[in-house]
Amino acid sequence: MSYRVLTGITTTGTPHLGNYVGAIRPAIAASREPGVESFFFLADYHALIKCDEPGRIERSRLELAATWLACGLDPQRVVFYRQSDIPEITELTWLLTCVTPKGLMNRAHAYKAASDENAAKGEDTDAGISMGLFSYPILMGADILMFNAHRVPVGRDQVQHIEMARDMGQRFNHLFGQGRELFVLPEAVVDEVLAMLPGLDGRKMSKSYDNIIPLFEGGAKALKDAVARIVTDSRLPGEAKDADTAHLVTIYDAFATPAERTAFRAALKGGLGWGDAKQQVVEQLEREVAPMRARYDALMAHPERIEETLMDGARKARAIAAPLLATLREAVGLRRFTAVSAGGTKAPLTNKAKLPEFKQYRETDGRFYFKLVAADGRLLLQSRAFASGKEAGQGVASLRGDGITALERAGAALGDGVTERDVAEALAALAAA
Ligand code: TRP
Repeated sequence: MSYRVLTGITTTGTPHLGNYVGAIRPAIAASREPGVESFFFLADYHALIKCDEPGRIERSRLELAATWLACGLDPQRVVFYRQSDIPEITELTWLLTCVTPKGLMNRAHAYKAASDENAAKGEDTDAGISMGLFSYPILMGADILMFNAHRVPVGRDQVQHIEMARDMGQRFNHLFGQGRELFVLPEAVVDEVLAMLPGLDGRKMSKSYDNIIPLFEGGAKALKDAVARIVTDSRLPGEAKDADTAHLVTIYDAFATPAERTAFRAALKGGLGWGDAKQQVVEQLEREVAPMRARYDALMAHPERIEETLMDGARKARAIAAPLLATLREAVGLRRFTAVSAGGTKAPLTNKAKLPEFKQYRETDGRFYFKLVAADGRLLLQSRAFASGKEAGQGVASLRGDGITALERAGAALGDGVTERDVAEALAALAAA
């Protein structure tokens, strides 16, 4: 059975070696396995919680997009998108907000850490805390539940959020599912070994500790300079080093084969100086990073290509998100009045007697057309003229398969006063029937 893997990275900083080893590299490797459907995204709505510098947000999302692609992400295989290109995510955030207990959010550690810090300083506990920070786990829950992800690879610090997403999904299923699983309940996947690449000072590599090794930015020189600043003990060349306590070695390990690791340890024990050891680390890193850096530079020179790739990804993502959101709106009672039977709230979720309908026909001009007509007779979509019935049929098939995102491809236009949402709902109803 195939399963879905989803993960996002917040776009506030420059991608570093820790992002690569802990998140990007394993995610791309996993996406190549059979039976896995991967969703990788730039968490740029999350970035707004921590950062109010538009220039930095803009730069970071471009860098991060180029990084994923340069590291080998195949956008044909993976659904790769920007969170902010998927308006369904923010809509779902509200639906989830309405079923999430405030008390649950009080316990979320990002908020708790900030309010504890305020308390320690004797300030108002909520000083400087935005509602974005407070309800951040709900946005994250929407990211995950929107695509019915089964597994979410994250760092250990994020596990609580995945559990909260499960809670929200469960509650929603219970309240509105009428026995259906509207949401898959996700599981966190934490790689204990890799989730924690140490930074220059030995603490977790993180932009907030200012201890990062940049992955691509600044080129080979920046990487080399950062490695030179990795903290080691003061043993001199010729003295035996303790490889097990040196985080320089942990960084080396992340880029080495088992045989290379053994050899490096032996050399340190045999008295290899830290300076020479660092030179070896740089060479080891460069072996993997240099070819990717070349691709990164080429991509950064053409942001418009990255844009195109992401818009493609957004179309794929929305083709999945829109029908689910239409089902959710229906489930909570945000229904078209025409679909509500005289029985009011007792109306069944799908009303079999009343379904939208595709109609294919030939006009007196000899050409072929299709239209989508709502249950109440409204014209939802009108196609252009096609030379053959087969082409018109293909338009219908792509709308049935890919939903509203196939609109242009299918050669169809919205009817008067009809919104994309009307059509998405109609297509979802057809798909569900
Ligand atoms: N909050 C995550 C972090 O800071 C990033 C993120 C946002 C994420 N949405 C997500 C991760 C959904 C996994 C799934 O690391």
